[in-house]
Amino acid sequence: MSFRSRIKNIALTLPRFLGQGTASFLIKTGYLIRGSKTYVSSQGEKMKGGYYDRYKLYNFVAADQNLENAEILFLEFGVFQGDSIFHWLTINKNKQSFFWGFDTFVGLPEDWGRDKKGCYTNNGELPYTEDIRCGFKKGLFSDTLPGFDLSPYKGLKKIIHLDADLYSSTLFVLAELRNNINKDDIIILDDYFSPAKMDHEFKALEDFIKAYPMRFETVAKTNSQIVIKVI
Ligand SMILES: C[S@@+](CC[C@H](N)C(=O)[O-])C[C@H]1O[C@@H](n2cnc3c(N)ncnc32)[C@H](O)[C@@H]1O
Repeated sequence: MSFRSRIKNIALTLPRFLGQGTASFLIKTGYLIRGSKTYVSSQGEKMKGGYYDRYKLYNFVAADQNLENAEILFLEFGVFQGDSIFHWLTINKNKQSFFWGFDTFVGLPEDWGRDKKGCYTNNGELPYTEDIRCGFKKGLFSDTLPGFDLSPYKGLKKIIHLDADLYSSTLFVLAELRNNINKDDIIILDDYFSPAKMDHEFKALEDFIKAYPMRFETVAKTNSQIVIKVI
């Protein structure tokens, strides 16, 4: 029996000794430690993962996946003041690209651990940019996304940035977009490896894949974000 299988077997017997909650916490923590150590890029280079620098990650992904000059549709769920979507506007130089940011702009609709309902509010204001490729949809995803017409963007490679923190918000977006998630599309989950918050983005992706089987490969990760590509 391989070392990996032995560890897996031990992990599977843990609930009997520790109780389901503690065992689940330890297993997830082990996964986090493993997931955050290193990342091997498609070129075989090792990238250290123990830091939190999502902007370096975005730059790496854009270069690695040839996104800097590609015509893309960038969809962001969870905009707040626009830091991440504005960074992607600087990365992607193609004038035919589109960027849409979805948010209530009055903060989280539910508590997210210690971050309470209303956290990350932009006081109802849309972030300001002069880049005409970028627009915003204000409201709950459940109000704005179902009526959002994706047909004008058919055939464009999508970058979907999921940064809404919450399980319900993340799962809703994935399920709503499921018929428009195509091969080679990129999905970024901002708080995937978040030890205290594994029941949110991490679980949302797990449950989405269970309900709507889809295959992904990992493009990159840090100790918080994961970037996956549909295969
Ligand atoms: C962590 S902030 C986003 C941070 C942002 N991407 C940045 O780079 O600074 C999370 C955002 O998700 C939004 N959000 C969460 N659930 C939502 C929902 N169901 N509908 C609309 N907005 C939601 C909140 O309003 C909040 O602004």
